[in-house]
Amino acid sequence: MKNKKDLSVQLAPKRQKGLLLANPVMTASGTFGYGTETADDHLFDIQQLGAIICKGTTLEPREGNPQPRMVETASGLLNSIGLQNIGVEALIREKAPVWATWRVPVIVNIAGKTIDDYVKLAERLDGVKGVSGLEVNISCPNVKAGGAEFGANPESAVAVTRAVRKASSLPVIVKLTPNTGNIAKIAAAVAEAGADAVSLINTLQGMAIDTRRRRPVLGNITGGLSGPAVKPVALYMVYQAAGAVDIPVIGCGGIATAQDAIEFIMAGATAVQVGTAGFTNTRAPLDILEGIKEFMKEEGIKDIKEIIGAARS
Ligand SMILES: Cc1cc2nc3c(=O)[nH]c(=O)nc-3n(C[C@H](O)[C@H](O)[C@H](O)COP(=O)(O)O)c2cc1C
Repeated sequence: MKNKKDLSVQLAPKRQKGLLLANPVMTASGTFGYGTETADDHLFDIQQLGAIICKGTTLEPREGNPQPRMVETASGLLNSIGLQNIGVEALIREKAPVWATWRVPVIVNIAGKTIDDYVKLAERLDGVKGVSGLEVNISCPNVKAGGAEFGANPESAVAVTRAVRKASSLPVIVKLTPNTGNIAKIAAAVAEAGADAVSLINTLQGMAIDTRRRRPVLGNITGGLSGPAVKPVALYMVYQAAGAVDIPVIGCGGIATAQDAIEFIMAGATAVQVGTAGFTNTRAPLDILEGIKEFMKEEGIKDIKEIIGAARS
């Protein structure tokens, strides 16, 4: 077709099979369940999205942190879910067979307390039908052991990345934490260690206090901040990371409109993830995709790849 736009993006160009998405709009882990909830409720056609990233998955099921686990702040959301999830075996048994019938690829977000946990998860998920890639969460601020501890310094980030890379033939995306001193250095280190792509940012650590009770609002005291408040921080970190690596960067953090998504793409992101925005507008990921198409039409852009990194000098 003459006016057909190309929105496809490749997230794992260094792997033989690659990870080709029909478009750059994905859901962010922990904000879209397993995708099955939205599909079952027919809230919108999720098959139109670029990819779905499922809730952070651990070896064993987890109940998560004590309540309350979510609190709204002036322009963002604080959460301390603490990786509540069904565990990898239930995921393989109940979710993956459904995903295998979908057109949209599903990427499993994995989290562990030790490197061995990540290796076991990667091995277990290797070759499972319906699983198109791994997103390695070395950035969860809401669990005591593991999580962000791995992502905060280059040495441990490299060790996890290497171990997962060795344990799996799937494309490996490493999800970075903003709670670190030098995002470019960490991004470069995990790229060197064999990551196919990096995604960023996870939430920024924060807290809220109930002044009447004179206690922290969250049962876990601290939580992760997401939503519009974090967007400028995330955008700059994506800009920095994209300047430091030659693998795809996936932008995330406060993306609520097509304009936001395009900013991340122009900063150097090959794809974007939509999280908190989906809590106020269920259709946010699809609306953002439609808005990107509209922008391309207005600006005469034939291929989304024309504008990846366009704002970089
Ligand atoms: C309720 C909630 C749960 C989350 N759970 C996870 C998770 O399990 N694994 C993960 O890597 N990130 C998790 N995140 C972080 C998001 O995927 C995303 O990185 C972050 O919220 C920033 O994007 P946003 O501002 O668009 O939400 C969670 C975020 C929220 C709000």
